[in-house]
Amino acid sequence: MSLKMKLIPLAIGGLISTAVLVLVLIFLLRAWWSTPLQVFGFGEPPEQPIAFPHTVHAQLNGINCAFCHRNVIQGDSASILPVEGCLLCHETIQGEVAEPEIAKVIDHFTNNRPIDWKKIHRLPDHVQFAHEPHVRFLTEVQGLSIEGACSTCHGNVKEMVEVEQTRSLKMGDCVDCHRDNQALTENSDITDCTTCHY
Ligand code: HEC
Ligand code: HEC
Ligand code: HEC
Ligand code: HEC
Ligand code: HEC
Repeated sequence: MSLKMKLIPLAIGGLISTAVLVLVLIFLLRAWWSTPLQVFGFGEPPEQPIAFPHTVHAQLNGINCAFCHRNVIQGDSASILPVEGCLLCHETIQGEVAEPEIAKVIDHFTNNRPIDWKKIHRLPDHVQFAHEPHVRFLTEVQGLSIEGACSTCHGNVKEMVEVEQTRSLKMGDCVDCHRDNQALTENSDITDCTTCHY
């Protein structure tokens, strides 16, 4: 065999491994794009437009999670209290520690500008998630309080000055919990792909 003939299989082998590498890279990049926060780790919450402390509201003043995230018990997304809702209290409560932050809240209200909170938990667009059935299951079937239900997936938020993601909420995490609890629900196919993917 000539040297040229020996090189052909080598060249083909090289092409194949390059193609495999490129595919793996594309896969990793896609995973990275669709869930950027989870790849960077849970430890780095984005900077919020107003330094809103859950400690002061949910812990010290005992305000219920569902007071500000009203939609969790009836809808898909949790929703965040609009700035008018903040004014229910902050019209009178000026805050001793962080007055400039309260001034920002009032400024948003008077100028009719919604507060653009940065998202901390975010699933890719091809995944569907609804809060209502989860909160219902955890409170009615598992007997947890509203706050206990939230902490199943979000950790102990009332002790967080800045909210951080504490649970992976990746596909394996979702599917494991669905498999473990399938028998307890009337929903017999919560492990089917189409339950979570459009
Ligand atoms: C049910 C009442 C209530 C609502 C609603 C409320 N707050 Fe507060 N907030 C408080 C109380 C009480 C304090 C503590 C004030 C103090 O002790 O200085 C506080 C303090 C704060 C502080 C300052 C924290 C500090 O360290 O002093 C910020 C900032 C703040 N709130 C932002 C908001 C924003 C933004 C909203 C709307 C999403 C909101 N609050 C809704 C009651 C409320
Ligand atoms: C006084 C209103 C208020 C109360 C009470 C409150 N929150 Fe929040 N929550 C907010 C605001 C405002 C934000 C957006 C700013 C931030 O991320 O800190 C937020 C953000 C969050 C986030 C992050 C959302 C994201 O972008 O992924 C979670 C999770 C959360 N809250 C859970 C809870 C839980 C659990 C409780 C009860 C222990 C609670 N909250 C009580 C106002 C409130
Ligand atoms: C089974 C897990 C699970 C439970 C239980 C849960 N959450 Fe969430 N939460 C998520 C996921 C996943 C997201 C991201 C949703 C997305 O990106 O579409 C999220 C997002 C949020 C957000 C950001 C706004 C939004 O709706 O996307 C807030 C605020 C929030 N959750 C609050 C709460 C509160 C308050 C409770 C308790 C009443 C709660 N969550 C219970 C998994 C959960
Ligand atoms: C703590 C356990 C738990 C975790 C974690 C969890 N789920 Fe679920 N999920 C359930 C249970 C239980 C049900 C069935 C509720 C029922 O129908 O009574 C359910 C139902 C659903 C449904 C069907 C809702 C409907 O309307 O029938 C979807 C979609 C879903 N989950 C998506 C997700 C996704 C996506 C994740 C991960 C981000 C996730 N879940 C994480 C326990 C969990
Ligand atoms: C309980 C909810 C749930 C079920 C059931 C589920 N998935 Fe997923 N899947 C997710 C979530 C959440 C993500 C995004 C987070 C991640 O990448 O893990 C995801 C991501 C994916 C991705 C990665 C897409 C990308 O952008 O990288 C693929 C592929 C996928 N799922 C296929 C499937 C197939 C096939 C099935 C059925 C065998 C299935 N899933 C069942 C929740 C689910």
